[in-house]
Amino acid sequence: MKAIVLVGGEGTRLRPLTYGIPKPMVPVLNYPFLEHTIAYLKKYRIKEAVLATSYLSEAIQGYFGQLTGLGVKLIYAVEDKPLGTAGAVKNAEQHLSDTFIAFNGDIFTDLNLTKMLAFHRAKAAKVTIALTRVENPSAYGVVETESDGRVRRFIEKPSPELVSRDQVTTNWINAGIYIIEPEVLGYVPDNTHYMFESGLFPLLLQLGEPLYALKFDSGYWLDMGTPRKYLQLNCDLLLSKARSALLGTFGKDEVRYGERCTVHPSAQIIGPVIIGSNCKIGQDVCIKGPVAINSDCSLAEGVTLETAVLWQGVAIGKNAVLRHTVVGKDTTISANATLLHSAVAGSDIQALN
Ligand code: GDD
Ligand code: MG
Repeated sequence: MKAIVLVGGEGTRLRPLTYGIPKPMVPVLNYPFLEHTIAYLKKYRIKEAVLATSYLSEAIQGYFGQLTGLGVKLIYAVEDKPLGTAGAVKNAEQHLSDTFIAFNGDIFTDLNLTKMLAFHRAKAAKVTIALTRVENPSAYGVVETESDGRVRRFIEKPSPELVSRDQVTTNWINAGIYIIEPEVLGYVPDNTHYMFESGLFPLLLQLGEPLYALKFDSGYWLDMGTPRKYLQLNCDLLLSKARSALLGTFGKDEVRYGERCTVHPSAQIIGPVIIGSNCKIGQDVCIKGPVAINSDCSLAEGVTLETAVLWQGVAIGKNAVLRHTVVGKDTTISANATLLHSAVAGSDIQALN
């Protein structure tokens, strides 16, 4: 089976981290997010994946174009301007002649695709949507189903009024993974902005086409759409709550170093911590995991770092304290600064929310 991964969004909610870098290239434990997704697809023996790109497409193609040994052949379907989720798939229709799987490109999951395909076939569905359960469904596509899994209603991002009037009756939401029969792309207009969520799914329901959904009760699922979720994903991987085929599993207090790191003997490092190459850890620095530090970072004397992610080339000045914080590429943090629950890139700081 082939897959198509939707990676054309602007990642606006991840700002300031995504100024100049597309969401799929955001580093997760020092690998671009999308590389983890591709490793997951490979696990299910998917040999070919279309990347539907738009915003900052060159950055994605530049990286993956040079990578060897990925094990999945990548094809690019580039939109001049974003065509929406279904429009992006329509744009790649020539590559999708058989049953295929479509993915929102910001989902980190280990949901069982073999189980999903078996369900799709057993129901003779035209589209099957994977469902996951969340506490607050209002930021997602809410999916109501019959007892046999047939979709009754699809409500994309229900308004707070709908939720408060009890019009939203379920916590099961669209996990952003679909198995699709190519013929449904006949309903999607060419070269037009068109969404699965507000366009194709409601249309299929209206036409009485077999639209099904499968509830996944266990397994890991996260939409890495905001800095808080991004930090959580890094921590979950370090704490082995989530797993990536790229990284293997972390030991409870494990500390992994890249090449050419210098660590002052007085520094205290409590895992799980991953440190990239060429990093300098100064005197009396205290790092308490889960922490991910990318390459070329320096932590001056007396720095405290706890539950944090540093991108490449971050320099932290003496005695600064950072907790529950993400710092973007090449950012300098001044001496004695205190940063709590923040996402910082250059001089731009956002509270994690
Ligand atoms: N190629 C392309 N073109 N990709 C796009 C476009 C586009 O025009 N618009 C969005 N995407 C990609 C984004 O890059 C992202 O990977 C994915 O489609 C979903 O877009 P988001 O902007 O992240 O949507 P969302 O998180 O608010 O909601 C969607 O995902 C939820 C699950 O995380 C919806 O599908 C919800 O129904 C769902 O619950
Ligand atoms: Mg999303």
